[in-house]
Amino acid sequence: MSRLERMRQKMREEKIDAYVVIRPENGRYLSGFSGGEATLYITVEKAFLLTDFRYIKQATSEAPVFEIIKTGQDHFEALAEIGRQAQRVGFEGDFVTYESFGKLKEGFPQAELLSLPNLVSHLRSVKDQAEIEILRQAVKIADDAFSSVLMSIEIGQTEAEIGIDLEYSMRRAGASGGSFDFIVASGVRSALPHGAASSKKVHLGEFLTMDFGAIYQGYCSDITRTVFLGQPEEKHREVYEVVLAAQRAGIAAVAPGRTGKEVDAVARKIIEDAGYGDYFGHGLGHSVGLAIHEGPNLNTREERVLEPGMVITVEPGIYIPDWGGVRIEDIVLVTESGCEVLTQSPKEFIIFE
Ligand code: GLY
Ligand code: MN
Ligand code: MN
Repeated sequence: MSRLERMRQKMREEKIDAYVVIRPENGRYLSGFSGGEATLYITVEKAFLLTDFRYIKQATSEAPVFEIIKTGQDHFEALAEIGRQAQRVGFEGDFVTYESFGKLKEGFPQAELLSLPNLVSHLRSVKDQAEIEILRQAVKIADDAFSSVLMSIEIGQTEAEIGIDLEYSMRRAGASGGSFDFIVASGVRSALPHGAASSKKVHLGEFLTMDFGAIYQGYCSDITRTVFLGQPEEKHREVYEVVLAAQRAGIAAVAPGRTGKEVDAVARKIIEDAGYGDYFGHGLGHSVGLAIHEGPNLNTREERVLEPGMVITVEPGIYIPDWGGVRIEDIVLVTESGCEVLTQSPKEFIIFE
C-alpha cells in the first residue's frame, strides 16, 4: 500500500475528510518533495501540494502524484480556496503555530479543526525497505567518519576541530550535512550529556565523548562513542564497562511486542544496580528517520510497542558532575525476532596512549 493510501486509511479511522501537512519531514514522507517549503492538503480523493515560484519545477518532478498549486509565500489563502467543502480537517497540532492556527480557523470557517499530531508520525515510525537501505548508508557514513577520526585525533586539538573532522569525513562520503549539532565533550565536559563541541583542547587523562551523525538522502544517523586519552584509572574503566553492559542489555531487550518502557527498564536496572542510577538522567533511546528524534522512544514513560521495521537508538550514559561521563549509542533495526545492530563501530574501551 502506498504511503498516501495508508494515510487515507488513518484519515478514515479518524473520520476526517482532509488533513493539512506543514511539517517538512511529514510533507517529504508523503509526497517525495524534498524542498521543505510546501503545504500538503490531502483528501480522500485528492492530494495537493502548495508551494511558491521557487519550488514548482522541483515539486512537479519529485511529487508526481500531487496536484501542484502555485501560491505566494503564505499558503493559507490558497488552502482555504481548495478546502471550502471540508467538514472535518486534521492538522499537526504539535507543529502549527498559534498564528498559523488562527489563519487555518479563518480559512476554514465551516469546518471542525482537529489536532491530530500523530497521524503521519506514526506512519513514519515503521520504515519500508527503501528507507532502511538509506538509513544503513547513513549509519555507515557515520561509522566510517569515526574510523577516520580515530586515526587523526591528536592531544592538544580542540573539540571543535575534532567535530569539523567528523563532518568533513561525512560530507566527503555523500552526507548533505550533520544530523544535529555535534557533541564533542572531553574531560569534565564529558559529564554534559549535550556538551556541544567547544574550543577546549583535549588532554591526556580524559574521556572524550563524540556524538554525531549524518543526513543522507534526508535520513539521519546518530552514533556516540566515548574513548579515553592516556591511562585510565580504575573508576574510568568501571564506569565504561557499566555503560557498555547496560547498552548491550538494552540491545538484547529490543524486540517486537516490547514497549519502550520495558526496554528502557532493562538497561536502566544495570546502571542502578551498579550504583550509578542518579547519573543516568535521560531516556535510553529514540527512533530516527527523516528527523533525528522521532517516536517511539525508549524511556521510562513510553507505552508504544516496538514493531519490525522501526529504527531506534540505544544510548545509555553515566554522567558524573566535575568528573566526566560516558555514553555509547548505536542504531538498531527492529526485526521479526529481535533486532539487528546497524552501527558497526567498535565498542570495547578504546584507549589512546
Ligand atoms: N545527540 C542527541 C542524541 O543522541 O539523541
Ligand atoms: Mn546521538
Ligand atoms: Mn541519539
